[in-house]
Amino acid sequence: MSKKRIAIFASGTGSNAVNLIRYFENNSAIEVAFVLSNKSDAKVLTSAKSLDVETVFLSNEEVAKGDVLISLCEEFEVDWIVLAGYLRLIPKELIAVFENKIINLHPALLPNYGGKGMFGRNVHLAVLENKEAETGITIHFVNQEFDKGEIIAQFRCAVADEDTAEDVETKIHSLEQENLPLVIEKTILKT
Ligand code: GRF
Repeated sequence: MSKKRIAIFASGTGSNAVNLIRYFENNSAIEVAFVLSNKSDAKVLTSAKSLDVETVFLSNEEVAKGDVLISLCEEFEVDWIVLAGYLRLIPKELIAVFENKIINLHPALLPNYGGKGMFGRNVHLAVLENKEAETGITIHFVNQEFDKGEIIAQFRCAVADEDTAEDVETKIHSLEQENLPLVIEKTILKT
């Protein structure tokens, strides 16, 4: 049986993208087809290249066009798309073609702290502002509404009174590193 091929979309550092690339490097069922970024200078592009993964840069105008992304995914024979720190809206045409095949990682416990403006540090600052005792990550399918697709899995961590946004971010990153590849693998193998 041929391997299932994943595209990873990322806008920034790409620690999750790198973790996924490493995890699936010698996997018998799943492989990373390419990494897409909408930022030409995103660290994720150089990191992916150094791990011998194909990379594509497309401008914000281009990633807003469903047909551009659909052709790209066809060209790379992609079966699944993982959004790992990707900060642009996914065009509805792509969602229609990849129904229940696009997975997003969100650094909070949705439905809380999701939607417009809730990305990166903003999320952790809002969590601290509200004196939450816990936060976590959500791995979910992508539908037409930002951060509102069906939840696949959530993982939690405690927030201490003295935690800074950086502390929360560190906890979130370790939850992501530990859990994202396993959840992606399980979800893909289930279909
Ligand atoms: C992660 O915390 C992810 O949950 C969020 O953006 C961050 C991306 O980090 N959507 P990285 O680029 O994978 O290092």
